[in-house]
Amino acid sequence: MAGSSSLASPRSLQLPLLFLLVAAAIGGATGSYDPKALCSKTTDMASCLKVFPTLPDKVAKAQDNQEFYTQMELYCGFKIYEASSLAESMIATTTAADPVIIATFFPQWKGDEAITTKTPPGKCLLSCNKTIGEVDDILTCGNTYMEDRPPIIHQNLTILFHGGHPPPLCKSGCSDGSSSEGEALLATKFKYIWSLLDLMEAVLPEYLSKTASSAKHKTTIPSPDITAAASTAP
Ligand SMILES: *[C@@H]1O[C@H](CO)[C@@H](O)[C@H](O)[C@H]1NC(C)=O
Ligand SMILES: *[C@@H]1O[C@H](CO)[C@@H](O)[C@H](O)[C@H]1NC(C)=O
Repeated sequence: MAGSSSLASPRSLQLPLLFLLVAAAIGGATGSYDPKALCSKTTDMASCLKVFPTLPDKVAKAQDNQEFYTQMELYCGFKIYEASSLAESMIATTTAADPVIIATFFPQWKGDEAITTKTPPGKCLLSCNKTIGEVDDILTCGNTYMEDRPPIIHQNLTILFHGGHPPPLCKSGCSDGSSSEGEALLATKFKYIWSLLDLMEAVLPEYLSKTASSAKHKTTIPSPDITAAASTAP
């Protein structure tokens, strides 16, 4: 009778796993908080489960949504900083240096072609640099106060992950075959960041509903317009 079970398709295995994770998420409310269960709420559960074991203990062993979100935001910010530094240095080495500046540092230089002729930054590098800048902007929220950021971040991440836009070129790994080794590394770093953001977005609705209901003044989460207006007020 169990003869056909060995032919189980991967899809038929995903569903029980999903239930398991959802059950774990519900169980979390009663004591043992399990942030990994949030992976079932991401747009790419398989990537989330792959990324989860790489998270630092501070994130992976968080005790509640607030701690998880706070640590996750710090970790994401750090990873984005790493990636933007890499992109910046790659752009610096692909952009031709100013001959006047070179002459200042290397007086013996005689206008040698080898120093000035560099390949311009490729499409993949430029796209990754731009996308990394965009996610950095989302997390820093125009330098809004830290405690005012979560609802704004939630809004912008929702657009990113559920807004129906195609994912950025850098997310696909710039897979048109023209990217260099360095670009491929940068794209890999970005894919990782993308999964982190997806996971961070997964915890935000619960985190925000909790903070709203436990707020002293029992206010609802401010609407985007109110938040934006408040943040631009002097
Ligand atoms: C790379 O991204 C940064 C941050 O968004 C931006 O200021 C810079 O102009 C970008 N560089 C290029 C060459 O596009
Ligand atoms: C995030 O959302 C706020 C409010 O909707 C908006 O004003 C802001 O421009 C967005 N930031 C980014 C980086 O998309």
